[in-house]
Amino acid sequence: MAVLVTGGAGFIGSHTCVELQNAGYDVVVLDNLSNSSEKSLERVAKITGKEVKFYKGDILDRDILQKIFDNEKIDSCIHFAGLKAVGESVKKPWEYYNNNITGTLTLVDVMRKNGCKNIIFSSSSTVYGTPEKVPVTEKTPKGTCTNPYGWTKSMLEQILSDIQFADPEWNVILLRYFNPIGAHKSGTMGEDPNGIPNNLMPYITQVAVGKLPELGVFGDDYDTPDGTGVRDYIHVVDLAVGHVKALKKIEEKAGLKIYNLGTGVGYSVLDIVKNFEEATGVKIPYSIKPRRDGDIAENYADASLAKEELGWVAENGIKEMCEDSWRWQKNNPNGYN
Ligand code: NAD
Ligand code: WQD
Repeated sequence: MAVLVTGGAGFIGSHTCVELQNAGYDVVVLDNLSNSSEKSLERVAKITGKEVKFYKGDILDRDILQKIFDNEKIDSCIHFAGLKAVGESVKKPWEYYNNNITGTLTLVDVMRKNGCKNIIFSSSSTVYGTPEKVPVTEKTPKGTCTNPYGWTKSMLEQILSDIQFADPEWNVILLRYFNPIGAHKSGTMGEDPNGIPNNLMPYITQVAVGKLPELGVFGDDYDTPDGTGVRDYIHVVDLAVGHVKALKKIEEKAGLKIYNLGTGVGYSVLDIVKNFEEATGVKIPYSIKPRRDGDIAENYADASLAKEELGWVAENGIKEMCEDSWRWQKNNPNGYN
């Protein structure tokens, strides 16, 4: 039996393919490569010594989904495929709702028609909106999202929960990721954003490698210890391992489960700059800029439920996250190109 990994050529998906193959799973990837390169899957093969079965195609395309179910023995799906740029989603809401929501509805429909009712979904800490208190637990009420991307995650959580409620044969695990950074230790796989990065760590590594002149720190007047935004950064390999643990839970007939995947530790933007400089010896010039629209002051996870029920904890600290992000960027200044 095999696991269908949608979006498996992307940042988190490709690292998850490594951990799945290392754990002995057969992996089938479906990805339209709209935000990734097939080269990531070549690197997965190099690391694990096993080719990844790859279908280039779209989750909106029923025919390719059916072809996969006809050709492969799929018994569960880890569903990463989706558009994820917050700012772009404000400008192109139709594209985001169509790709993420219609795409997931299509995927789930083909799954159930083929008797496959096990899914792990990539959700996000963004579903908490602006939390009243941190750390957030899975019981913290969901909040108002500040952009269409966030709403696709929040709505898809509801849709998948309703589907599981109506048909308890479904096993649905919603994983709420905090801020994934880091890269595979080999330095051969990592995050490869298109154009100028939106997220903090890829921006920092591109400053470090000389592609960008300086970091803009978005606001230093938040109600946080140093005034800059606080987040829960998590190593992508720890996140990937979390998916393998979630798959084991699915095999035990999980029903509907929701887990935060974070470290439980919050770091400010300036903490990240300082830790990056210490871990790599590279200076990051920065200047303070106005707050970015839609940003919140702080968010970090209480991830104790994932520890209790999945036996999962994040193993890597901020030093490893900085070192590994830098190794990837330094060895691959232009990403997979
Ligand atoms: P990514 O863009 O690197 O990976 C997503 C992959 O999905 C890409 O390879 C892209 O080509 C593919 N894809 C997009 N639309 C598709 C479609 N219609 N059909 C087939 N393939 C399609 O992003 P990532 O950082 O690896 O994120 C993976 C998932 O985790 C996404 O759903 C994202 O929203 C979610 N997530 C990411 C973060 C983060 O900060 N990186 C945080 C929380 C949640
Ligand atoms: C982190 C901190 C910024 C860039 C986003 C999505 C969220 C999730 C993860 C998918 C903030 C500051 C950033 C820069 C800066 N993705 N910053 N200068 O905003 O926490 O979360 O990615 O689900 O949905 O919203 O992550 O890395 O963009 O920002 O000062 O050039 O770094 O203001 O405090 P964020 P981020």
